[in-house]
Amino acid sequence: MDLKLEDKRALVTGGSRGIGKAIARQLAREGVKCAICARTEDALKAAAEDLERETGRRVLPIVADISQADSIKRLVDSASAALGGVDILVNNAGRVSGGVAEDFAGVTDDLILRDFEERVLGYLRCARAVVPLMKSTGWGRIINVGGMAARTAGAISAGARNAATVHLTKSLAVELGRWGINVNAIHPGATVTERLGERLSGRAARRGVTVGELTQQIAANVSIGRLVTAEEIAYVAAFLASPLSVGINGEVIAVSGGVGVAVHY
Ligand SMILES: NC(=O)c1ccc[n+]([C@@H]2O[C@H](COP(=O)([O-])OP(=O)(O)OC[C@H]3O[C@@H](n4cnc5c(N)ncnc54)[C@H](OP(=O)(O)O)[C@@H]3O)[C@@H](O)[C@H]2O)c1
Repeated sequence: MDLKLEDKRALVTGGSRGIGKAIARQLAREGVKCAICARTEDALKAAAEDLERETGRRVLPIVADISQADSIKRLVDSASAALGGVDILVNNAGRVSGGVAEDFAGVTDDLILRDFEERVLGYLRCARAVVPLMKSTGWGRIINVGGMAARTAGAISAGARNAATVHLTKSLAVELGRWGINVNAIHPGATVTERLGERLSGRAARRGVTVGELTQQIAANVSIGRLVTAEEIAYVAAFLASPLSVGINGEVIAVSGGVGVAVHY
């Protein structure tokens, strides 16, 4: 299927590794010109070089911190100037939960405030900066990466920021659909990325198991019997970025391999 993405222009936040890098790679493979951002310059530049080498497409690294309003403005101005506009925004940058305890006993005010500054305000501010560019062409796609903690009690800060991400997604979709801009969210399940072992080590230590044992425990609750990969998230993101996804707006798609037994309708 031709996703009709050739020569579209995308900004992927948090593109130096993990899910964001996989999404930028998939978009570039589909012919999209990408800008990627992260806070760590060396890793970001190396990722852009990797992606350009692998895909033969332009991938522009822009250092930015999406928890800072002025940094987001510079990011979007630079991406737009270099690419000639922005058609697709993938809001992905942020903390992955699991590293620190977020239950009632463990969650801190600081963690919640940082999560809302980075995830909720960061995603909103990035959308606010790109929407005028999208309106000027009458077309756009915004994809917000959330997380399954929105649907499961336990991790208080991750749950709150992911639930707020869903609300933001729906609210923007309702307002922006008439401008040709579709806004959707993806909830990754526990995902295989290059940082999987590092990410699970804190939780494994808290439970007194090894990272391998914890990975097996998590996989046992996934219907497909294993963790999804960043590449598998990227396939869904590429479809949501495509003009072909016009019928999907304000929705949340879990890309978890099938977790839990709750029926969401
Ligand atoms: N991996 C999972 O299992 C999983 C599950 C559910 C949801 N998610 C969500 O999916 C997204 C990506 O996860 P991932 O596993 O790919 O994470 P990751 O491997 O830690 O990558 C995060 C990316 O975002 C960047 N970043 C982090 N904070 C940033 C900030 N304030 N400003 C700009 N860039 C920032 C990082 O680079 P720098 O550190 O250099 O800035 C990196 O490029 C996150 O929003 C996460 O909450 C992940």
